[in-house]
Formats: sequence, C-alpha cells, structure tokens
Amino acid sequence: MGYKINEELIEKIHDSCDLIDIVSRYVHMKRTGSNYVGLCPFHNEKTPSFTVSSTKQLFHCFGCGTGGDVITFIMKIENLSFLEAVKYLAELYGIPLEEDDDNVSNQRKLEQEKIYEINRTAAIYYYQMLSKNSKAVNYLRGRNIDITKIKMFGLGYALDSWTNMFDYLKGKGYDEADIEKSGLISKSKGNTKYYDKFRNRIIFPIIDTKNRVLGFGGRVLDDSKPKYLNSPDTLVFEKGKNLYGLNLIYKHSNREKIILVEGYMDVISLFSRGINYAVASLGTSLTNYQARLLKRFGKQVYVCYDSDEAGTRATLRALNVLKQEGVDARVITLPEKYDPDDYVREYGLEGFNRLESTALNYIDYNIFILKRTHDLTTPEGKIRFTKKVANLIRDLKSPIEQDVYMDKIAMDTKVSKEAIRNEVIGKASPIIINKDKYINVKKSHTNIINPVETVIEPAQLTAEKNLILLMIRSRSNFELIKKHIEVDDFSSDNYRTLTKAIFDEYKNNPHVIDIDIKEITNKIFEKGNRIDADVAKEIADSSIESSIENIDKFIKDLIDTVKYYKLKNEREEISKKIKEIEQKKDLKEKEVEELRRLCVRLTELDKELNTHT
Ligand code: GTP
Ligand code: MN
Repeated sequence: MGYKINEELIEKIHDSCDLIDIVSRYVHMKRTGSNYVGLCPFHNEKTPSFTVSSTKQLFHCFGCGTGGDVITFIMKIENLSFLEAVKYLAELYGIPLEEDDDNVSNQRKLEQEKIYEINRTAAIYYYQMLSKNSKAVNYLRGRNIDITKIKMFGLGYALDSWTNMFDYLKGKGYDEADIEKSGLISKSKGNTKYYDKFRNRIIFPIIDTKNRVLGFGGRVLDDSKPKYLNSPDTLVFEKGKNLYGLNLIYKHSNREKIILVEGYMDVISLFSRGINYAVASLGTSLTNYQARLLKRFGKQVYVCYDSDEAGTRATLRALNVLKQEGVDARVITLPEKYDPDDYVREYGLEGFNRLESTALNYIDYNIFILKRTHDLTTPEGKIRFTKKVANLIRDLKSPIEQDVYMDKIAMDTKVSKEAIRNEVIGKASPIIINKDKYINVKKSHTNIINPVETVIEPAQLTAEKNLILLMIRSRSNFELIKKHIEVDDFSSDNYRTLTKAIFDEYKNNPHVIDIDIKEITNKIFEKGNRIDADVAKEIADSSIESSIENIDKFIKDLIDTVKYYKLKNEREEISKKIKEIEQKKDLKEKEVEELRRLCVRLTELDKELNTHT
C-alpha cells in the first residue's frame, strides 16, 4: 500500500519528534550545555564522540563522521530507506499517513486489529493454563526453563481438549468467523464443527517488535508427532516475514550481534544463559525478508543451525540469501548431533562464546564443508576440491583476499599456489595487464619453483584502465560502456582527459571503428591538453586478451567497480566537509542547511556502498 509522503508530513515529523528522545532509545546520552553526548552506535568507541544538538535537532559523530537529522538517524540505526523511516516515525508518533486507498485499507486494518486482540486474549489464557498444569510446568522445568523465562517469552499451555480455546474465546464475545481468521481453530474435513488447532501442547507465542501477538507455535510434551505445530499464515502472520524472538532482541540486545537458530527452544535456551541476541526462522528456510530483518537487528549476523545434514544444507542456503542482502554472515559450527540448546546446556555461556569466536565466514565455511565432502588424500578428490574452491575464490572482490585464500588452499592441499591461481584466473579473468610485469602461468614455461611476480594494482585503477583499453579496441565496446559511464566517473585527470578524447573521437568520426592510442595521445597534445607521458605509455603497453567470454558481464563488473570507488571517494570528501562545518563555532542557518544536506547524502552513500560489498 502506498502512502502520500510530502513535505508537510516530513515537517510534521520534525515537529513531533525530539531527536534526543529518539536517540536515547538506543544510546545512553549525557547532557553538556545544549548538546548531548554518548557512545556512537555506528562505530566502536570507548570515549563518547557522538553528539546531538537539541537546538539544531542534528546529530554528528566526531569519530566516524556520521551525522544527520532524526530521519537520517532512523534510516541508519534501523537500516530503513528514507520512505520507510518516515513511515516508521509517523507511526511512532501517531501522525496519520494518508493511504492511497482509504476504504480497502481501513477494512483490512480493522480485521487485523481484531486478530491481534484475539491472539493476545488467547496468549494470556494459554499462559494462565500453564501455571495450572503441573505436567506442562514439569516439562519446561526438565528443560531448564524457569518462571522468569516463562514470563519473558509468555509461554503457555494448550489444554488437552478439542474445544477449550474455542469455547473460551466465544465466551469472551468473539465471532466464530473472527476466531477462525486468527488460525486458532479450524474446521475438520466434511465436518461443520470447529476444533482447537493446539491441543496438549506447550505454546510459544510469536510476538513482533510492537508487542503484538502474531501467531503461535506449539510443542508436544512427549515424542508424538508432529513435534511442532505453527499457526497458519493469517492476515497478521506471514512466517517468511517474521523471526521468533525479535521482540526481545528489540528490547534487550545492543544490536552488535544476532544469531539465527532453527528452533524456539534454541532461542529460549540461549537467552537463559545470557545470550540475548538469538532468533529463529520459524521452520521455513530463510527468506530474503528475514535476511533484511537480521541485517537491521545485528551488525554481525551469525547462523547457528543444527549440525546434521539438513542443518548444513539450510546453512549454505541461508548464507547465500544473506549474501544477496549484502550481509557478511558467519557460521557457528556445532559438533555433530548438537543443536544450540544442547550445546549451551552442556558447555555454558563460556563454551558458546568460545565457539562463537571461531565462527567461519562465507568462504571459510564453504571450504570447511567442501573439505568434509571431498577426500583430499586422493588426487581426484584433491582436484575436485581445488576446482570448487577456485570458483569461490574467483567470486572474491578483493585481490588481496583472493591471494590469502590461494595461500591457504595451497597449504591445505599441497597443490601449488600457481596452479590454484591459474584455475582462479584462467576462466574469469582472462585479462593481462602489463604483459611484461604479469606472468600468466598457463602460458609461461616456468615450473612452479619460480616465484610468480604478480602485480596487484588498486582495483579502481585497473578497472578504469581496462575500460579504456576496451573502448579503444572497438566502437561496439565503446557504445556499451558509454551507456553506463561518464567521463567524470573516472578518478584521475589523466584518465578523464583520455576518455574525453576517446568519446570525442568516436562521436566526431562516425566511420572510426577503433582507436590507436598513440594517435589519440598526439591529438590530446595538439589540442594543448596534457596527459602524463607515463600514463599514455602504460596504456599503450597494456593489452586485454582477445577472447573474453562474456563481454557484457565483464564490462558490467568493471563499471560496477569504478562506480563503487567513485561513491567511496565521494563519501570521504563529504565526511571531510562535515567535519569542517562542525568545527565552526556559530553555525549560520545556511550552514545548518548544508550540514543537513551533506548528512543525508552521507547516509545515502553508505546505503549504496553497502549494496556493493
Ligand atoms: P526440541 O526437540 O524441542 O529441542 O526442538 P528443536 O528446537 O531442537 O527442534 P528441531 O530442531 O526438531 O526443529 C527446529 C524447528 O523446526 C522447530 O522449532 C520448529 O519451528 C520446526 N519444526 C520441527 N519439527 C516440526 C514439525 O513437526 N512440524 C513443523 N511445522 N515444524 C517443525
Ligand atoms: Mn533441540
């Protein structure tokens, strides 16, 4: 549903929100004059440099350079887009949002509210029934769950009865149709009678960050099947869009870390031992939506699924989903036959923390799994393993990281690093820069004893240089590249001048199909412009292998790289400017405006940069 977001609304938000108020929800702030200071929530620090001005209603961190107004703050800390942040604040302060279609949405809203109400009533009833049922309390006690945890998670018990909840809710005056919409009851096939969905089960209410009861999970008290039941999806509950435990994360966690586990019991058990930052994905495999939730609630995301085969598969899937959402998650790997609940019960908080500190990142976890599934004592196993790892290494953006992993794998497998590099670059990077400096092993006759001299250039320069090389090679490359990049996107004067000359040359001479670098540099000099002779020579001496398999993708990657660094550079400049303005004593209205603009831009840049990594 769309909302009308206009200046009026944004003004209302600025009018109704006190930035100090909002910030204090996340950071402990101390008053100093008209400013407040605290520890910056956006970077690690020991002495407070995060400042909020109550008069200007702006924040700024002298440590990391972040700053902005209340909307920017919410964008950053809740990881929301501008529109989402506006909506979030509007809801928080009860500022009505005008929906595009009033009738439909009002009707829907009423229905949802009714379900929330029924769910809440049911949750309270389940909770009351628990304390009256010694079998259920004993079961929980047997699993180390005491009364504080029962209260904290609002656990309950559904009586061993077909209609107890149905009767109770009817007695409270709710319509059968409304009760049915909550998913707490259903009709049996060919029968007209309603019956309770949850019977003789421990009940886990699923609660959102606004403390609304969305639905329930229920566990049997013995070994009968199915072990768990969940509420069906309803108007207020979509399994793929929620995480169990998020309400408590919201209240208790400092959002440094968040752990994704499989089960309700894992969340509760971890919580009991002081790990107040675990959530469960409600029995489904992780969705992109849930991945975004994780991103929003924890700077470092950990996946800690059961160690069985299903768990491993689910972990790999979750890692990929998280990667799609730009989250660099780590995996806490449990010993065989353990789930987080078992582990923390046996090894305690300390044991779990130790395990957490050895969590593996994406590539390490993949390598770990590949090692488990390949026999490295046989040549075939080794070859298959190395090829698969090479595929992973190829995906790494940073050449330094690539190098580190090539070293690692070479050590592990005793396959020469050169051979691994060859496997890595052989397919995806057919590019040879500076032939004389870069030795492509495949073509050299040297054996593996010779050190291979590789020149790792800054990725930005390499990408720019390659784009130039591609453009001079053919008009068709130029046409492709020009669609996505401008002269100003290049980082140095030299490259900008060169690119401008190339653009002009193709534009002014429709019959030109490729460009000779010497000619074009001569033209540049004739026009009285300059590029460094070194740069011209370097370009002239470089070349790109002629057969690049997928030129479109290749070009796209280069352009992505160039744009990424352009954003990064802009970020540096902006944060410098912000610092300059902040250092002035009395800010004029115009400067405050400028500051606000810069801070918004900074936040935008951070978001964009995030999607690149
Ligand atoms: P405990 O045996 O109570 O420790 O459960 P667990 O948390 O170790 O559960 P398990 O690893 O078996 O399952 C993890 C999660 O998958 C549960 O929390 C449920 O959300 C879901 N799940 C497990 N069994 C079932 C089932 O039979 N039906 C459904 N719908 N979900 C299940
Ligand atoms: Mn378990």
